[in-house]
Amino acid sequence: MSTVDARGVASGARWLQARFLLPKVLVIGMQDTQTSPVLAATTPGNLTQFEYLALNSPLNLSDGHARQPLTPGQSRVVDELPELWADAVKRPVEEIERQACRTYFEMLGQHSYPADDGRVLSCYSSSVAMEIFARSLATAADAIALVHPTFDNIPDILRGVGLRLVPLEEDVLHGGDLPVELLRSVGSVFVTTPNNPTGRVLSEERLRALAAQCAEHDVVLTLDTSFRGFDTRAHYDHYAVLEASGCRWVVIEDTGKLWPTLELKIGFLVSSTNVGLPLAKIYSDILLGVSPLVLSMVRRFAEDGIGGGLVELHRFIAGNRAILRDRLADVPGVTFTDLDSRVSVERVHLGERLGLDVWSALREHNVFALPCQQFHWARPEEGAHSLRVALSRSPSAVAQAAEALRSVLLAR
Ligand SMILES: Cc1ncc(COP(=O)(O)O)c(C=O)c1O
Repeated sequence: MSTVDARGVASGARWLQARFLLPKVLVIGMQDTQTSPVLAATTPGNLTQFEYLALNSPLNLSDGHARQPLTPGQSRVVDELPELWADAVKRPVEEIERQACRTYFEMLGQHSYPADDGRVLSCYSSSVAMEIFARSLATAADAIALVHPTFDNIPDILRGVGLRLVPLEEDVLHGGDLPVELLRSVGSVFVTTPNNPTGRVLSEERLRALAAQCAEHDVVLTLDTSFRGFDTRAHYDHYAVLEASGCRWVVIEDTGKLWPTLELKIGFLVSSTNVGLPLAKIYSDILLGVSPLVLSMVRRFAEDGIGGGLVELHRFIAGNRAILRDRLADVPGVTFTDLDSRVSVERVHLGERLGLDVWSALREHNVFALPCQQFHWARPEEGAHSLRVALSRSPSAVAQAAEALRSVLLAR
C-alpha cells in the first residue's frame, strides 16, 4: 500500500462494490498488496467499470475526465459561482444557454454552428446526447458504421438500442473514399474526432469528402468531437463544411473533457435541418434542460479559454505527455503508438507484455491506467498489448504514475 492508508482503501473498496455493483473479487485487490489469482482471472466488463476502480485513488490515471488543479483563471471563475447563481436565477434560461453555446463554439473555431432553430440541444453529458442520438437513429435505421477503435461506451450505447455495428477502420476512414458497399449497408457513419484513444483528427479535406459521400448515399454523418478542445487541428469550422455538403449530420460536442469542473459539464447535440430523426422528441422524453448555473460556468470557462486558458491547457497536456514519454523512453519493448496525438490521453504499447497484467501489477501500487482491449470493440485482441494513460492530471501525479509504470515494466 504505497499512497493511501489501508483503512481508507478498505472503505473505498466497500463503497465501490456497493455503488457500482462490482463483483467483490474485483475490489478485493484494493485491500491486498498481493494479486489474488482469482482477481487476475476476473476483469471488468467495460472501460467505465475499469474506471470505477480508480475513482478513489490519488493516482487515478484511468478515466479521460479532467482532474488537474484549477489554473488561477479557472479558480477565479469558481470563486464567482455564487454570483453566477444569482445571475442565473434572474435571467431567462434561453439567453444563458445562447451565450454559453456561442462562447464555447467560438472558442473552438465553430463559427457556423446553428445558433437558431433549436438545433443545439444541451444535455447533461455527451453520453446522454449519444443515447438520444442512438434512440433516434434506431427509429430509421438498423445499422451504423463506427470508427474502430474508439471509446467503448459509444458502441455499447449504439448496440443498446439494437443497432448493428459495422467497423470502420481508422486507416480506411483517413485513407480516402469509403467503400460504396459500406455506405449502402448503414443508416449512419459515426466518427470520433479527435479519436479516443488514438488522437487521430479528421482533416477538413477528409470531412468534406466524407460529407459529400454521405449526402450522395443519404447516410447521416455523425461526429463525436468530445476531445476537440485539445487539438487545434480540429478547430477548423466543421459546421461550415457540413452545411455546405447538404448531407444529414449530427455532432456531439462535450465540455466535459477539457476542464476540471467536478463533472459539471454539458454535452451539446447539434443537427442539420434535414436530419430527419426525432432528436427533439426523444430529448423531451429524457430531459427538460440542463442547469443554467452549469451553462454559465461553461461560458466563463470558455471566456477564460479564449483569453489564453486554451493555449495554456495545450502546453500543460504537452508537458505531461513529455513527462510520461521521458520516464518510459528507455524501457525495453515500450513504444508510443500515437506520436502525433495532442489529446489528453496517451497510449503506451507494452511490447510482448499484456495490458491486463501490467494493469494488475500497477494496481498493487494503487496506480490506475486503462488496458486497451475494449477500445477495439470489434477485435479486442488488437488492444491486448496497450495501456492508456490519462494526462489531465497534475504533473506530479503523472510523474509518480510513470515511475510506478516504469518499475512494473522493467520487472516484466
Ligand atoms: C469520445 C467520447 N465520447 C463520449 C464520452 C462520454 O463522456 P461522458 O461520460 O462525460 O458522458 C467519452 C468518455 O470518455 C468519450 O471518450
